[in-house]
This record gives sequence, C-alpha cells and structure tokens, in this order.
Amino acid sequence: MRVMFNGFILLLVCSLACCVSDTTPSTPALLTERILLDQQWRFFKYADASQADALIYDVRPPLLDDEDGKAADAEPDAKIVLTARPDQQILKPWILPGANPFIADPTARHQRPAGPSPGQSFPFVQSSFDDSQWQQVRLPHDWAISGPFLTGDDAAVGGGMGRLPSPGVAWYRRQLEFSAADADRQLYLEVEGAMSYAMVWLNGQLVGGWPYGYASWRLDLTPYVRFDGPNQLAIRLDNPPASSRWYPGGGLYRPVWLVKTPKLSFSQWGQTITAMPHQARNGRADSNIQLQTRLSNQSTSPQQAELRVHIYALEQGQPGSEVLARLPLTKTQVPAGGEITLSSAVLLKQAKLWGPRPSQQPHMYLAVSEIWQNNQLVDRQQQRFGIRDLQFDAAAGLKVNGEKIYLQGANQHHDLGALGAAFHPAAARRQLLLLREMGVNAIRLAHNPPAPALLDLTDELGFLVINEIFDAWQRKKTPLDFHLIFDDWSEADLRALIRRDRHHPSVIAWSVGNEVGEQYTGEAGAVVARRLHKIAKSEDPSRPTAAAFNYAKPDMPISAVMDLVSLNYQGEGIRNAPAYQHLAGIRTSPQYPAFRRAFPHKLMLSSENAAAVSSRGEYLFPLAAGNSAPVADGAGGDPHSQQVSSYEIYTAPFGSSADKVLASLAAHPEVAGGFVWSGWDYLGEPTPYYGARSSYFGAIDLAGFKKDRFYLYQAAWRPDLPMVHILPHWNWPDRLGQITPVHVFTSGDAAELFINGNSQGLKQKKPGEYRIRWDQVRYEPGRLKVVAYKNGQVWAEQQIATTGAPCRLTLQTEQPEPAALLFVTIRVEDCAGQLVPTAKLPFQIDLPGATDAELLATDNGDPTDFTPFPASARNTFNGLGLAIIRPAAGSAVTHITVSSPGLIPAQLTWPARPAKEQHLD
Ligand code: GAL
Repeated sequence: MRVMFNGFILLLVCSLACCVSDTTPSTPALLTERILLDQQWRFFKYADASQADALIYDVRPPLLDDEDGKAADAEPDAKIVLTARPDQQILKPWILPGANPFIADPTARHQRPAGPSPGQSFPFVQSSFDDSQWQQVRLPHDWAISGPFLTGDDAAVGGGMGRLPSPGVAWYRRQLEFSAADADRQLYLEVEGAMSYAMVWLNGQLVGGWPYGYASWRLDLTPYVRFDGPNQLAIRLDNPPASSRWYPGGGLYRPVWLVKTPKLSFSQWGQTITAMPHQARNGRADSNIQLQTRLSNQSTSPQQAELRVHIYALEQGQPGSEVLARLPLTKTQVPAGGEITLSSAVLLKQAKLWGPRPSQQPHMYLAVSEIWQNNQLVDRQQQRFGIRDLQFDAAAGLKVNGEKIYLQGANQHHDLGALGAAFHPAAARRQLLLLREMGVNAIRLAHNPPAPALLDLTDELGFLVINEIFDAWQRKKTPLDFHLIFDDWSEADLRALIRRDRHHPSVIAWSVGNEVGEQYTGEAGAVVARRLHKIAKSEDPSRPTAAAFNYAKPDMPISAVMDLVSLNYQGEGIRNAPAYQHLAGIRTSPQYPAFRRAFPHKLMLSSENAAAVSSRGEYLFPLAAGNSAPVADGAGGDPHSQQVSSYEIYTAPFGSSADKVLASLAAHPEVAGGFVWSGWDYLGEPTPYYGARSSYFGAIDLAGFKKDRFYLYQAAWRPDLPMVHILPHWNWPDRLGQITPVHVFTSGDAAELFINGNSQGLKQKKPGEYRIRWDQVRYEPGRLKVVAYKNGQVWAEQQIATTGAPCRLTLQTEQPEPAALLFVTIRVEDCAGQLVPTAKLPFQIDLPGATDAELLATDNGDPTDFTPFPASARNTFNGLGLAIIRPAAGSAVTHITVSSPGLIPAQLTWPARPAKEQHLD
C-alpha cells in the first residue's frame, strides 16, 4: 500500500508589491502598497543586558545549567517552572493577542488587557526622544555579526552560539510617514524575522509583538496611527543568552515592510491554490487549479466584492503577455469587520510542471487576483505558484510528476557565513548553486523557518525542501531556548509558517521538530507530537508531516505519529562501528529494517546523517584505520591548532563518515534518500573544538570554499560528470619518506596514481566504497597524477604538484553578470600560478576610487579565525581568502585591489550593478 499525497496545495499570499504594473482605470493609490523599510533606522543596544529597561516579555529562569559544547544528541531536559517577582513588568498579556488569528479554538484566544499601554512613559517609545546619538543602520541588520568575537573559556558567549554578541536587549527606532489618504486604509507593519522577543510601540502605544525570532508576522498599526504629524515606531528586541545550539544572530535581520491596504482587501496569507496535475508526461499535464481566496473587510459596513483571477506563465521570472486562464468571476458580500472565503477553479491544459533539477524544470506560474467593487478595481495581489504531483511511496520512494527522485539532500542553517543572519538573497543563491554543483537536489531547513525569499530561490532553482520549524518543544536543549514559549506560541507559529509557505512548490514536507526531548517521554511526548501533526494537517492536508528522531525507536508511541519516518543518524547506526565502541552516549544498531517492519506504508528518509568534520586543507597524521572514526585529540583533531583533518573519515561521536552513510543508504534502497549534516559550515556548534567560532561539519566551508568532502559527494551524486579529485595537497617538506596516504574521489570506477611518473597501481572502487586509497605512499616532493577510468575507458584526470613559495595574489569572481553582491576569491599562488595550499598570509582589501561600493565582510573558512568579519585585512587560510562586496550602484565601476607584504598585488575592475536594484538586496 502507498501513502499518497496526490496533487498539492498552494497558497496565495500577497507577497509581491501588489501595486506594481497597475494599468487599471481606478486610482492606483488605493491598492495595497508595500513599502520596504530598509533605511533610516536608529539602533541602540545596552552594553549590559542586566542593566536594560524592565519592559520584559516574561520572567526567565536563571542560567544555572548552561554548558557550552554539550553533545548535540544529549537528552533534552524538562523545563523549569517560574513565578514572577512582584517588581517585574511583564508585557506578555499584550503580546499574546497577536497569535489569535492562528489559534483555532476561539476559547483559547487572548484578550488584550484593558487600561494604559505598558511602557508608554518610557523615553525610547516617545517621538520627542532624541536618538541622534544612536547608530544609523540599514536593514537587514544583524547586530552581532561584526563582533568582536568573545574568546576564551569564560566568554559570555561560547563556541556553541558562535562567540559573537548575539544575546542582549536592543531598540530600533524610525519614523513612519502617512498621508491623509491613508486614513481610509488599514496600515500594517510586516516583519519577516526579528531576533527575538519583538515588542512594537507606535506613538508611545504598545501595538504587540512576536517572540519567536525565526517567525514572520504582522501587526495592525491602524488604531495607533496619527495623521497630524510624524509617527514614531520603536521596536524592542531581547535575545536571551543560552537560547540556541547555534548562532541565531540578532536584530531586524530580514526585511521589514509598511503595508497599506484598502479596507476591503485580501487576508494575510489568505489564498490557497490546489493544483491537480493528471498524468504528467514530458513535463506537462492537464491540471485542475482550485483557488480558495480569503477576503477581509475592515470597514464598518458590509461590502460587495467581485473576485477576478488571471493566470500567467512565468518565463525567467517574468509573466508572459498572454493570460493563460481567467477564473470565473465570483461575487460575495463580506461582512463588516469580517472575512469570507471564495472558491473558484479552472483547468489548465498541458500546464508546464514544476520539478526538481536536473531531470526536470521548475516551471512557475503567476496568479493575479483582483477585488472589484462597482466596476472599480479595489485591490490586487500577485502570487507565484507551481504545479507538480508528489507521491510519497513507501516502496518506490519520492515520485515527483511520476519520476522517482532520490533525495540527495543537505541540511542548512540560516546564517550566511560572514554576513551572519542578515538575509541577502545573493548569498543564499550562492549557497544553493554550490550545493547544486555538488549534486544536491534537496534542502532540509535546520531547524527553523527560513527567510521567505529563500523559498523563492528554491522554487526558482528547483530544489526540494523540508521546511522545519522547531528544535525544541516543551523540553529544553539550552536553558533559554524555545521551550520557554512552546505552550503559548507553538500553534500560532506552526499555523503562521504553513500559511506563509504553502504556496511554494519546492516545499514537500513540514517537519515539526528536530530530535526533541519528547522522544524520551513516552505517551506524554506522543500527545504533543499528535497535536502538532493535527495542526499541520488542518492547515495543509496535501503535504506529509515529519519529525526527525535520533532516539525514538519503532515501538515508542511518538514514532507512529507523523506521516514520514524521518531518522537522524539512526539509519546507519549510532556509535555502532568498532572505532566508536569506547564512547558513551546513545548506541544504536542500524534502524532502517526495524522502522520498515513497523511502518511498512510510510516513506522513510534519513533527515540527518554523517556529521563528519574537517577543516579545509588541513591533514593530520597518522590516519585512522577504516573509513569512519570519531574525532579526538591526536586522532583526526589537533587540540593546539583546533583544526580537524580533512581526510574526511572523522566524525562527531554519534556520526558516520560520508563513506559509511552512502554505503548504508545504498544497502537500503527502500530509503528515499537523505540529508547530509551539513551542506555548508555555519556559525556556532564547532564540534569538536568549542574554542572556535564556526562549525567543521560542512562539505563547503564558511567562506564557500569546497572541502575535499564536496568531491566525495559529487562523485556519488553526479555519476555522469567526469571528475576525479586527489587529497591531500603535496607540500610536505617535513614528511620526506614518511607514510602520507593519498585518497581519490571519482565518479569513475577505477583509478591509477602516479608519483613523479611512477605508477602506484591501478585500483578498482569496490561496491560500497566511495574512495580509492593508496595508504602506504611515502612522501617525496614532485607531481601527483591520477587517471580515473570508467568501464575501462579514461574518464577524468587530475594533477597536483609541490608548489614553489608564495609569489603573487590573484582574484577570481563567481558572478559573470552584474550582481547584488560580489564574492571575490583571493588566491595565494606561486610564480607558476599554482595555488599554495598551505599559505596563511595576511591580505588587505581596498576599494579605491570615489564609488559607493562597500566591503561587507571578509572570511577565509578557518573556524578558529577571530578577526571580525567586517575587517578589510585578515589572513588567507590554506591559500584562500574571500571578500564580499556590495558593488557600486548606477554606472560606476568597482575597483578592487588586494595586497600582501612581499607578494605581487592583484586588482579587479567590476562592471556596474544594474541601476534598478532588486528590492530585497
Ligand atoms: C544533530 C542535530 C543538529 C546538529 C548535528 C551535529 O544531532 O540535530 O542540529 O547539532 O547533530 O552536531
């Protein structure tokens, strides 16, 4: 039997500027307007959060049990119950009503307390307050990413949260403009993400807020707006210490909008499109499109409304000129102060389907919906959507449009390396494109909702996405994490996320939790899981639910709740190989067979696997035996340098090397595929060296440079791409005559290694093996050459050589076209143009010339480098450095120079970025 999710539901929300391309006879000014509030912010952060104002959301437990470097798979604890001190001013009762639109049970909704607004006499919320001494900032703004890094064992923020000052209390202020015409409109503040515990005042009145830092939310400003003068907006954020197992960032780190809608308008995230393709062939299918559109009437009288919807094809992101379908007109009356849902449907003949690359194309459509009243256009919204058929087949795996797609997935955290949590679409695109080059076709968003624009990118680029919302439920992993607000906010957060994101064809499943503590609490944990599952299904019956389990076994009640079997590390087994026998902690034999027996009808996937660790270009000797070993001091890890060997067999204590994971998945074809931990390195969680700042888990380092592991996955996931990759580098003056193993990753099936022309033997890659290795090679300087074969034919070749001394710098860019951000790679080369793979040399970036180009950050991928990210000077790490530049606007060109003492400098001139900027960059 199969569990099928035929067709899918797509939601329409007004996420684009609905006033653009208005060609209608009515007054354009009355349509919904979205104004990006990216400029003119003033920012202040208390130096010491304990001295901050008393306008707290709620009391918090004392930090008694904060342990940096706690094992990621340690059992989460019960929460501590607290009572408030009488002197504390708790604003939670004013914030909770913001959740009401997302609470299904009317009796569970919150009432705003009567009486004066808390904080109204506090200076920061007054328009008369002089904030001219506050810092001027532009959004997206991550207050912590500039550092400085907090180093040492007693640092206030340890390695787990990235050693950056994300905790603390801070305020953002700016003025808003309204005109007399706005008096007839509904006025909203929309925040795509604020880290965290946001509370918002307008003109001294507390409007509301939203605690979860990864959520998107909006507040109705209308009752607080003045039309007789400037309006003062003030936002208080309060990021607790010990609130996360990774770097959360801090501040208004995603776009913030002022949204002005007519009184009769579209409800927030209020349109669902269900597209039912029939019998997909050659990327097309007749598709029944059903729309549910929710209209909102904020006026004091009932309103007549006509809904018109037109559908266009999108080609390269732009709507075609031809209307593909007009949905039948629907008419209704929307009650005063109420909402109503209208249904309509249409058949799209031979629609082009959305499907994952590379075998399919991610075709998208645009639905333009209009509300008309008395032959006047009242409002319009536009929403992109895609049409695809998903089948979650327990035996055959995931089928998209009838084609089996094996999940070659990567887990990704939300940070963008040196840019921190501040969301820049150009940096997210770069992450995705490099993952695609590795062969990745699916992303698991670990472990929180993304920036909305990330899902626009996954739609456009054709990735499959598991959209995950929580890392903790009621039981905590860190002392002040989401468990503090789970009971009050989990329903609202989950419903809001699904309504926001369900129109994205790239999203294939909702994951409601990662390795939650409720795995350990039997039936009580299953009760929580069932509640979340039910909420998700009520919002979106078309997609399956998941929760990633690293501990729950098939016979535990929680394991039966979700639609998918989603296993972290358990599939290939945890601490079960000989090299892991001495370790304490969860020990699990390979679990795929047991879960398959218990849940024969559920699709099973490996939501997290590997947790392999390495530092790009670092190799430590001797190499452990076997193909998977836990990293330890002197065994893959160097406690002095805090670097981890890049032979790519070392792992976290509960992990397994890529080789072991891929072999296990290959031995279990009933598993639909998996998601490696992790695609890119990320800030925080620097297992095994918590003295560092960023992780060692990525196949790609924090700066975006490929580690050796990148090629191991590429060899396995892109079998048709002729490639071969050698490790280590061949600059070992101290290892003359010593054993220096040489390993090769190739999409071929055999390879021959030559050292200075002498063959080291032709070796076959045996079934279940993912590398070819020559473990007895003795180092001599010179040239390594590998020739890979496939089916007896030469398939690919690579050569590396011992290099000369550093001689010059060179610059490379990844963007052939003018782009919103420029990523410039700095290479240290010898005089023959070879990368010097051990070079750790200072470099200095300059942007000479009178342009407005801006150096946003530099990096090098070294997890232990504490140079602040905005610095224009730092060291290369193993030959490479990175500069992230916002190019000059308009017609100006950007000149970039880079220098290093004793080396020939390099320069680059970059064409202008387009004068018309993307609104999110
Ligand atoms: C998992 C966890 C991830 C990450 C990973 C590596 O247990 O789900 O969030 O911590 O381990 O440590």
